[in-house]
Amino acid sequence: MKISPARKSAFEILLKIEREKAYSSILLPLYEQNLDERDSSLCHQLTLGILRNKIYLDRAIETFTKKRCNKFDLEVLIVLRLGLYQLIFLDKIPAYSAINESVNLSKFAKKRSASGLVNAVLRKASKNSIKFDFIDETERVSIENSHPRWLLDRWIREFGFSDAEAIAKSNNTISRLTFRFTKRFFLLEDESRKRVISELKESDNISESELVEDCFVASKSDKKLGELADENLIYFQEEASQLTARLIQLEKGERFLDVCASPGSKATYIEANCGFDNFMIAGDLHKRRVQNLVSNSRNQGAKSIKTVRYDAEKELPFRDESFDIVLVDAPCSGTGTIRRNPEIRYSLEEKDFEALHHKQLNILKNASKLVKRGGKIIYSTCSIESEENEEVIESFVSATNGFSITAPNVKSEFLTESGFARTFPHRDNIDGFFIASLENSDG
Ligand SMILES: C[S@@+](CC[C@H](N)C(=O)[O-])C[C@H]1O[C@@H](n2cnc3c(N)ncnc32)[C@H](O)[C@@H]1O
Repeated sequence: MKISPARKSAFEILLKIEREKAYSSILLPLYEQNLDERDSSLCHQLTLGILRNKIYLDRAIETFTKKRCNKFDLEVLIVLRLGLYQLIFLDKIPAYSAINESVNLSKFAKKRSASGLVNAVLRKASKNSIKFDFIDETERVSIENSHPRWLLDRWIREFGFSDAEAIAKSNNTISRLTFRFTKRFFLLEDESRKRVISELKESDNISESELVEDCFVASKSDKKLGELADENLIYFQEEASQLTARLIQLEKGERFLDVCASPGSKATYIEANCGFDNFMIAGDLHKRRVQNLVSNSRNQGAKSIKTVRYDAEKELPFRDESFDIVLVDAPCSGTGTIRRNPEIRYSLEEKDFEALHHKQLNILKNASKLVKRGGKIIYSTCSIESEENEEVIESFVSATNGFSITAPNVKSEFLTESGFARTFPHRDNIDGFFIASLENSDG
């Protein structure tokens, strides 16, 4: 029974994402390390392609079978999605290969009884093109871009129809590969640093970001970048995340706390960017997340960062007013990162936003007690939802004395009328982030 390792792996990953709410960004590297280059690339393309087009594929399955998708066993549904995706979206795969491998995959998935159906549906799809009827324009955008209708309805209310459609479209594009230097790089001898820089400059694959200082953009991953990342001299980090971390420039002796810090992308950025051995603490809720934080800091040579585990929704284990700068990079829905995490759109539910709002507000209130007078808090999320952003800050400012909103020091194109910073994938070609800067001006 012939099934390529790429299709078998994509099938298993997609099944885990559905059953266990697992993340493609975690599973793909685990599976890909055991595949050769060709299979790894196909597995990547199939997994992300299906996640980016799931609602479209399901509508196609319902059209060809005249049966609701929730009536199929999950394994059979995933096999059908895999087969149809290859037939509709990939022109390099011959139809017979997509069909035969899908039939075999249904047997491998112990759904032998469905193999006839899989064969019939895919044969029909290979001979007929599909045309859908939509009840309205929102349904068209929802199906063409595979975003749940309720999520689009929210974005239409918040941003208007054309921006909501543009966001959904851009969420199905591939984001730029960006990186920065690590502390370990800055600690190299002059000669070694110059060598790394000149090697990077020689590569026509790499350019400097026009949006964020000291951030580099690679048009593709290559061997040299892989080696530099393995040596922990560069660190892959999305531009909007770098933009946020860059806002925190510590003066000598200033004490810094990163409240929700794991895996430490921003804390290690801030440490690498700080010319002094300042007092820096980074904490997180879960043991495993704190371990990630420790190993990431160690790998990057970020020795000043001390790590701690706590629940920031409860009282934090520090004296009041003991930090100059506090970063609250809050747990959030991640709707600004759907390009890189396409499954987020399916796992979210409308009620999640209210719960997140309360959690974010609790953490922000607790963190604010630790800020010295004259000090500041940076509050950020990778969400584009106002409940998690402006509305959290509004609730915070009206419930807390002494904090005032100051405009973050970013390019004017990112500033909003209310004095916050916002980035959007469809507008800026980077993740959707929100940043607020709050100064403790009490007294
Ligand atoms: C957006 S992520 C932080 C990303 C991180 N700042 C970085 O740049 O790598 C939010 C983090 O908040 C943590 N978190 C969630 N609830 C928390 C809580 N109650 N107390 C502390 N940390 C929490 C999560 O485990 C997650 O690591």
